[in-house]
Amino acid sequence: MCGIVGYVGPQQAAPLLLEGLGRLEHRGYDSAGIAVLGPGKESRVRVAKKAGRVRDLADELPKRFSGKVGVGHTRWATHGPANDVNAHPHVDTKGDVAIVHNGIIDNAAALRADLADAGVDLVSDTDTEVLAHLIGRSEAQTLEGKVAEALARIEGTYGLAVLHAAYPDRIVVARNGSPLIIGIGDHEMFVASDLAALVRYTTRVAHLDDGELATLTADGFSTYRHDLTSVPRSATDLELDPTAYDAGEHESFMRKELLEQPEVAERVLRGRLDERFGTSHLGGLDLDPRELRAIRRVKILGCGSAYYVGQMGAGLIEELARIPADAEAASEFRYRNPIIEPETLYVVVSQSGETIDTLLAVQEIRRKGGQVVGLVNVVGSAIARECGRGIYLHAGPEVAVASTKALTNMFLGFALLALQLGRVRDLSIADGRRLVAALQALPAQIGEVLALEPELTGLAARLAESHSLFFIGRVRGFPVAREGAQKFKEITYRHAEAYQTSELKHGPLALIEPSVPTVAIVPDDELTERNVGALHEVAARGGPLVVVTHASVDLGDLPSQASVHRVDVPRSERELDPILMTVVLQILAYHAAQSLGLDIDKPRNLAKSVTVE
Ligand code: F6R
Repeated sequence: MCGIVGYVGPQQAAPLLLEGLGRLEHRGYDSAGIAVLGPGKESRVRVAKKAGRVRDLADELPKRFSGKVGVGHTRWATHGPANDVNAHPHVDTKGDVAIVHNGIIDNAAALRADLADAGVDLVSDTDTEVLAHLIGRSEAQTLEGKVAEALARIEGTYGLAVLHAAYPDRIVVARNGSPLIIGIGDHEMFVASDLAALVRYTTRVAHLDDGELATLTADGFSTYRHDLTSVPRSATDLELDPTAYDAGEHESFMRKELLEQPEVAERVLRGRLDERFGTSHLGGLDLDPRELRAIRRVKILGCGSAYYVGQMGAGLIEELARIPADAEAASEFRYRNPIIEPETLYVVVSQSGETIDTLLAVQEIRRKGGQVVGLVNVVGSAIARECGRGIYLHAGPEVAVASTKALTNMFLGFALLALQLGRVRDLSIADGRRLVAALQALPAQIGEVLALEPELTGLAARLAESHSLFFIGRVRGFPVAREGAQKFKEITYRHAEAYQTSELKHGPLALIEPSVPTVAIVPDDELTERNVGALHEVAARGGPLVVVTHASVDLGDLPSQASVHRVDVPRSERELDPILMTVVLQILAYHAAQSLGLDIDKPRNLAKSVTVE
């Protein structure tokens, strides 16, 4: 998704902007550009932009590209193809204004027509260029006034940063639905759409809310609304390790993040488990036992992998608390005029805390008076702030597009929530303690799963040879299969389809043949026998099998010619087994993609946080 960086201060802006853009590469993009503004009366806007990678832009940057104020952008095409002209920054006709913009302007077509009627020559296909012209043509006497006036004509979402040759000491930024974070340095200021671009320079930040603007100069910042009335925003110091954004000795961020899982799993559980009463403490939830008891239903909302882990979470809540629970894709929820019930607890789940579909779902629930809590990784993100309460996931920065460690901590967050909901109802203290002990053992068990990596590498490479695969599981295992298929398709570009094992014979069995492997989730639980039965049906049709299972499971006499590989996973309690099996599927996807020589951290067409609808 598009990324923004900006700088104003005593240093040359261009190298800082390029470095910052490099740190946003993981978000996914197809072109990049920067604009700088030289000092003094003669200041003029210089722009360099290009389709392709940030390093292509850096290679072609003109030698004289000096200026101590600047903005930069990585673009993920929405309006018009990825080419040099459509890349940001965009400028107005006189070349005084340069703007970078994330989000979508819904009324861009009408505004383009108005501008064309007024004789403006629009050179790009983008919605953003419209804004550059509106700002350039505004008669307001300040840059703040010009930007506010232009924004008054805009419908849609934006995070944006603007330079103007007549105001060479400042950047004006604005936010509505697309993240922007102000970074406060020592007589220098930064702005970025993602902390990753800032942490090398500062961990002192201020967040803008939707509908707010800010002016950054080398000496400070001021925040205000569209009518230019001030809304003071205080700065906070983040406890962030800047090296968290470096892959270090790892060949990719995904591998680094895979391997971090035991450590981050321990972190999300730390201080939250109560051995004595067999329950959890979740201060940020802000619901007392009476309020927890009053909940009649739980509805979980998230997108992509967060939705699949939400299904795992719904299963945990139903099992442990016996409250009806289900998960739904947040991207669909808002569009069906959902019925918001007072006794339902809405739980939204998001790594980035910026996914627009999830954020809009929260706003819809709140507008209708529903109670919503967030399971969010990024502290201070839009979803976390909009929910106001919930469970932080403490997975640390996740850079790879494919989610691994955040997803694991989402599962653990749900386990903590389910435990608490269960213990104010009918979950016995003995069962509560059983689960607390199992949760305490999980980080080390995740480590044991990671130790299976050498065994899984060759297997993954064999799976990567197939162009189409099935992932199957039942009840607790089905969301595991969905997440496994998701991870596999995202980074290997193979067709991977998840099915309930029970549904195989209602259709997809027709596709089983020697070139279509099936990855089956078969835990040792009350469904083992039925799961094993389905494996025999697949093997009998020549379908190769990878069975993710427990050592105690007997797979029976599969046909001697059948290709079967079993992966035995350490056992937890059956409610928690899904996460250990999920980690196996993460490793398989990773090594399959690696065997294909793909760019694992930046899968094609995908972005890390999806901030457009
Ligand atoms: C898959 C993946 C995506 C995200 C989804 C939601 O590996 O990363 O499917 O899970 O885009 O993102 P967040 O959790 O940031 O809301």
